[in-house]
Order: sequence, then C-alpha cells, then structure tokens
Amino acid sequence: METQRFDFRDNREPRSIIQAKLQEVAKLIRHGHLVGIPTETVYGLGANGLDEEAVNKIFQAKGRPQDNPLILHVASAQWLPLYCKEVPVTAYALARKFWPGPLTMILKRADCVPDVTTAGLDTVGVRCPDHAVTLNIIREAGVPIAAPSANVSGRPSCTSAEDVWEDMNGKITAIVDGGPCAVGVESTIIDLTCNPPRLLRPGGLPLEELEQALGTVVIDQGVTNAVGEGEQPKAPGMKYRHYAPKAQVTVVTGKGAQSAKVIKKHLKRGDGVICFEEFLPMFKGYEVQSLGLSTDKIAQAQRVFDALRAFDETEVTAIYAQCPDPKGLGLAVGNRLKKAAGFRVITPQKAPVILGLTGGTGSGKTSALGAIERLGGVVLDCDAIYHGLLETNQDLIGELQTAFPEAFGSEDHLNRKALGKIVFHNPLKLKTLNDITFPYMDAEIHRLIAPQDVPLYAIDAINLIESGLGALCQRTIAITSPVELRVQRIVKRDEIDRRYAYMRINAQKPDTYYRNRCDLELPNNVDSVQAFEEKAVAYFQTLILKIQEEQTHG
Ligand code: TXA
Ligand code: MG
Repeated sequence: METQRFDFRDNREPRSIIQAKLQEVAKLIRHGHLVGIPTETVYGLGANGLDEEAVNKIFQAKGRPQDNPLILHVASAQWLPLYCKEVPVTAYALARKFWPGPLTMILKRADCVPDVTTAGLDTVGVRCPDHAVTLNIIREAGVPIAAPSANVSGRPSCTSAEDVWEDMNGKITAIVDGGPCAVGVESTIIDLTCNPPRLLRPGGLPLEELEQALGTVVIDQGVTNAVGEGEQPKAPGMKYRHYAPKAQVTVVTGKGAQSAKVIKKHLKRGDGVICFEEFLPMFKGYEVQSLGLSTDKIAQAQRVFDALRAFDETEVTAIYAQCPDPKGLGLAVGNRLKKAAGFRVITPQKAPVILGLTGGTGSGKTSALGAIERLGGVVLDCDAIYHGLLETNQDLIGELQTAFPEAFGSEDHLNRKALGKIVFHNPLKLKTLNDITFPYMDAEIHRLIAPQDVPLYAIDAINLIESGLGALCQRTIAITSPVELRVQRIVKRDEIDRRYAYMRINAQKPDTYYRNRCDLELPNNVDSVQAFEEKAVAYFQTLILKIQEEQTHG
C-alpha cells in the first residue's frame, strides 16, 4: 500500500486548500481507512471508532494485543453522552477545565461503541485532543476517531510525522503532518468510574492539576511499579513492555549530579546515555541523547521519545538514563523512561552523614551523642570497637606483639594497661600504635556502616583526630565547655569531690586542643543536660542538611 502524505504545517495556505485536504482525510476516516493523525501529545493511528472492521485494522498495523483498548477522540464535551453512559458531572467539569487537552477520561461506554474498540470492557476512554487539524478532521468526519499512539507496538511513541512514516509507511492509507507534537508524552488517563478517581497513566496533564480539580486521586499500581506476571492492571496497556529501544535501558534516579556520577561509573564502551543537557560534557565519547535541561520538564516531555527512538539507529549495547523528579510533568517522563527500562531502576543510596565527636570528660559529649540518636543516628563508640578488636582480631594482636613485646605477658596475652603506659608519655610510640590500629579501626567502621540503611552516624572517639578516624567524617566536632561547668557535672554525675574532679579534667587535654583540631565546635555553656541536648539536636539538624546539600550538589 502506498501511504499518502497530507501536509498541514503551513497554516498560511489558502483556506479552500486546507478545507479540501481536511475533507479528503475525513472521507478516508469515514470509509474505514487508517490515518496517522497529529495531536498535541503524540501522533495517533486513527480510524472510525464505531467501525469494527476499521478498528481491527489498527490492531493489525500496530501489532497490538487485542486486549488493549483504544481511546476515542472526540471534538468536544458535547460528544460525551453519545459514546458514554451515566456521564458524571465531574467529567463535564474536567472537560471544561482541561479540554481540548492531554486528558483521557475513562467512563461507562454506550452500546454503540463496538467491543473491539474497548477490548470488551464496559468502559471507554475518551479525549478531546488539542490540535486544530485533528479536531477539524473529527468534526468533518462526524465520527469519533479511535486512535492509539501511532508507533509499532512496543516501540517509543511517535512525536513527528517522520516517526509515523518510519513505523507505518506502507501499512496505512495516509499520514497527516501537523508538525512536531507540543507536549510529547501521551495524555493523562483518569478513571472516573470509581471513587475516588484513579490515575491509570501519568501524562501531559500533571497529576497536581487533577488533584486540584478532583481532590483525592488514587495512583494505580501500574504507574509506579512493573506489572507482575498474570496481574491485570486497570489500564491493560500498562502491562506491556513499552517505549523500548532495542538495547536494554537502565534508569537512574536521584539528583542530577548524583545520577550522572552513578551512570559514569556503570558506563562501558559502546553504551549510550540519556542525560540532562547540562551533563552532556560528562559523557563525551559515548552515544548521548539530551533530555533537555534538568529544570525544563516541558522540554523533557518533548524529548523523551525522540531520545529513546534515536538509539535504534545506533549499535549501543546498553542505555543509561537520568530521571527527573516526579513533580509536574516529571511523573510522566519518569514513567516512560522506567517503562522503557522494564522498570530496571537504580536508586542511588544516599551516602550516610558521618560526624566525628570528641571532647574531654564532663563537656557534654554523651548528651551530644544522645541528640544524634534522637535524630535517628547510630553512635559508633570507638573505645568499645577498639577493645573488641583487641580481643578478637588476631592480625592486629600479632602486629602489636611485634611492635610492643613488653606489653604482652607470659601467655602472649595483651596487657592493655601496660600498653597504655608505654604510649602515654611517648608520642613516637603513640604514633606507632595509631599507625597499627588505624587500618583495623577503619576497616571495622566501614564494615559497621556498610550494610545498614542508616542515614546518620556519629563516631565517638576521644582521640578522634590523632587516630586518623576524623578522616572518615564529613565534619569533626569538638564538644567544649568551661572548666567550672565541667567540674559541677562530674561531681554530680560520678559523686566525687570537686578536687578530684579538677584532677581528672587536668589530666586530659584542654578545650583548646580539641577546638584547634576539629572542623567545628559545639560549646556547652548551658547548665542543664536537657537544655544542651536540645541545643545539640537543633545544631546537628542544620549541619546534616548542609552536608546533604553538599553531597547532592558537590
Ligand atoms: O495521548 C494519547 O492518549 C495518545 C494520543 C494518540 O491521543 N493515545 C494513546 O493511546 O496513548 P494508546 O492506545 O497508546 O494508550 C491508551 C492507553 C492504553 O494503556 C490502554 O490500555 C488504556 O489507555 N485504555 C484505553 N481504554 C481504556 C479503558 N476503557 N479502561 C482502562 N484503560 C484504557
Ligand atoms: Mg501507546
């Protein structure tokens, strides 16, 4: 079959010529032919929706499964009662607000709509497209046009007449060229036969706008998750692999800077990338398609199918795609990418925030650690970890025995007190000890923070900086406090007299030592434990946000 082209791009053409072409196309529709038609969302493969034979041809041309119903395209809300039963007032309200436009409503079907069109369902999807040419064709034809997206089943949708040509040349009677699609993703589908209304497919009309008009909207499972084997989603089309280029797609979510880094790590030679415009320079040397700026979701919707389609002209082995956040049109763009990927999605783990806390006795370190726990953090007590390693780690014990034989008793048993004495007055020996223990502590701490999904850790170490453990932290924080307040706390806490409390404090390093070596200082100059813990909670909250901000943008 020779596929005819009708070009409607030049709207300065004489009215009579445009009218003649419209009439010709409308006649083709009325006579049961298949015609590729432009809409604001994607191109449709149109036929008379009331003509069983014509509709059957759509399924054949697309290679579409028979159980996947079609949308009826109408010229206005006045057509609703012709093809739908018991039309609720909300349908008219939505039509007034959003038609013509990228919204499909699922309503009870009238008897005149044939089974093939609705795949046997007792409901029908109806929409009024926002494209002057197609609206005129529908009016001129005087019948609703059943039209799925014009792509071959499984391929990315068509957003230009050239795309339709690529997929349908020779299989359909005509293609109407109405220029590139303004929206670029298909219509949003809302099921109004249930209460509350249910979103079956995110699309060109953002969910937020529907929610504003309807109140609560339930989001169907099929929108966010892969449909499992044998499951029956409300929109039958959601169960099929869709929009997919030949190469396997993997979607990476998260902030742009982070997802770009994750993609970079996964990329092998010969792979392709779909990325936001600003990350193009990161992927030089690879087959790359831009999705538009990360801030421009309108552009992303217009680009997404083109980007996916473009890879079929290449030999890429795998494709990695950045994914917009789900606000506004991002929900539809992300959904199309994830469907193209068969829901193969990498969600980058947020790296945990690790804070190092240090400070002398009585300064309030314990309260500060309490604040960390109140914020959902996990405290790693380095003293306890160190002692655990000294009991159990034979490699560490072996190294210590070689370096400090005098700290080992007759039965090769480490005398911790003796070891402490050796290094206490000897900075060189202390350094040797730290050099030996650090790699073990480092490995152990990494082991402790690796498997859990904890967003916040505090490393609690009196020798945080000297031991080298401070390097594991995004920030080291000195907890400091005036000596007099520390004395009062220790007296109360340990039930000892003031003189002894002074002695204990003086045996330790002064505040200035910690202050000068840490990144930050959290001074404890309040007199109640509770007040300091509150202060610490607020302090850490702000700090954590700041660090997380750095992690995503840095
Ligand atoms: O923007 C669009 O909606 C485009 C343009 C051409 O208008 N059309 C489009 O049609 O995307 P199609 O066939 O590619 O996708 C229609 C989706 C399918 O997932 C189908 O299962 C679902 O709508 N659908 C159609 N009728 C339905 C019904 N009665 N109940 C539930 N889902 C329905
Ligand atoms: Mg489709």
